[in-house]
Amino acid sequence: MQDYIDRLRALKAEAAGSVKDAEAQHKRGRLTAQERIDLLFDPGSFNEIDTLVMPRYDSYMGGKGSRLGDGVITGFGLVHGRQVFAAAQDATVMGGSLGEMHANKIVKAMNMALSYGCPFVALNDSGGARIQEGVDSLGGYARIFDANCESSGVIPQISVILGPCAGGAVYSPGLTDFIFMTENSYMFITGPEVVKSVMQENVSQEELGGGRIHATESGVAHFLSSDDRECLLKVRELLSYLPSNNQSDPPYIAPRDDPERRCPELEQLVPVDPHKPYDVRTVIASIVDDGRFLEIHELWAQNMVVGFARLDGFVVGLVANQPMSLAGTIDIKATHFIRICDAYNIPIITLQDVPGFLPGTSQEYGGIIRNGARLIYAYSEATVPKLMLILRKSYGGAYCVMSSKGLRGDLLYAWPNAELAVMGAAGAVNILFRNEVKSAADPKARSAELVSEYQEKFNNPYVAAARGLIDDVIEPRDSRRVLIRALHVTLTKRDRHVPKKHGISPM
Ligand code: HXC
Repeated sequence: MQDYIDRLRALKAEAAGSVKDAEAQHKRGRLTAQERIDLLFDPGSFNEIDTLVMPRYDSYMGGKGSRLGDGVITGFGLVHGRQVFAAAQDATVMGGSLGEMHANKIVKAMNMALSYGCPFVALNDSGGARIQEGVDSLGGYARIFDANCESSGVIPQISVILGPCAGGAVYSPGLTDFIFMTENSYMFITGPEVVKSVMQENVSQEELGGGRIHATESGVAHFLSSDDRECLLKVRELLSYLPSNNQSDPPYIAPRDDPERRCPELEQLVPVDPHKPYDVRTVIASIVDDGRFLEIHELWAQNMVVGFARLDGFVVGLVANQPMSLAGTIDIKATHFIRICDAYNIPIITLQDVPGFLPGTSQEYGGIIRNGARLIYAYSEATVPKLMLILRKSYGGAYCVMSSKGLRGDLLYAWPNAELAVMGAAGAVNILFRNEVKSAADPKARSAELVSEYQEKFNNPYVAAARGLIDDVIEPRDSRRVLIRALHVTLTKRDRHVPKKHGISPM
């Protein structure tokens, strides 16, 4: 028996790679595939499968550089005590390139994750399609894409880019729910050399598709970390807010924070003057359990803030306007987030302080009509509990599209200083009474009079409350306890979907 055991051990040691390989990877400022797996999973809980898979040897160059396991570690283990599947590409084996068997391993692990209802995490570090395996590797990518689509909305899928991710390889991450990148990673459809020859444009890898560019400019990356370690700890944190699959609830954590806690600081945090900015994240921190908030897309489209937190132990998704950036105008960033919350049974809490959509040609040319429609579609389609709190402004289209009663918002609240109207007072007076103001003996005084009349008549929460368009006007300090009580009653909400094959989501 000992001979057999020795042989198995030798094979596994070969698959694990050499110290030299690990040093080469460390020199690039990156961890090895095994070190990444060790950071992602609870200590000692990971179980590798397909360790002994090999590529076919009849490929071009006779499989030079190949190794047992074919350049990707796959398997399952525990993250915060729950089962998760993962694939980690090994950049020290043929550049982490993806051939037929490498792809088979990933697809097998993805299918298991789908069958057993577990999240799937892909740790990418690869030179893309393995050139020696030609069309076999392209076929492998296509099977991965298909598995991504099949799993979409059923199990959480997370892509972590820790090195290169180029060419069509970017589309598997693009199909997943969340993308993490490090400062030392990059994603692009075509590299700098192709850009130079086709577009005559000189650009570095970092400028073209570095982690920072995708976290700030394109919005492709939901999270940016300085290195592998920080990134993988963040992945663990995100998983702590997600259910294992769409038929289970996100993990409940018994709160230490008092559900009835008052938040008197909110009266100071939000200035009554509607033109004064503030950081809505301070409002979120004041309301949620222990002030803990995991922001998604922190560096991109900062006029809206989205992310996960807990209220009385239950996971909620927060969508908030950010008055500190572009006055908190609406952005479509929230659309994808709302759909994720809906797919994974996460109630949505909308905090409104919004003057409307951003006006102008760049917005119209950029398709604000299409994009705004997508946001409405996402809110309307969502069957999870939808709670809303108006902190200050709620004007025009902005009122309608963000979780309003018309879109079947469940329980909606406003602070007493809230302004719900078609538009702000000055704009409304200018449109309705332009001639009257012009011809008045003292136009300034008349305009001020009309503005104050408008404020009194329309620009407050009481008209909406009188029509039942909001459910109550509350004191800011009661925000946490009111939202928690509303969450408790709506957690048993039932779906009200009209049967159809599927809707046609706006472009
Ligand atoms: C086979 C590859 C490979 C690939 C790298 N290697 N990429 N082998 N297929 N795609 C091998 C190298 O030959 C080398 O082998 C080892 O991996 C390490 O590569 P280096 O170049 O020395 O490493 P580094 O300097 O760190 O550069 C990494 C890299 C570069 C930037 C990823 O290797 C690179 O540009 N590779 C090609 C990227 C690419 O164009 N891929 C195809 C994209 S198109 P030795 O034996 O010397 O150690 C695509 C289509 C997908 O993916 C379509 C899906 C629909």
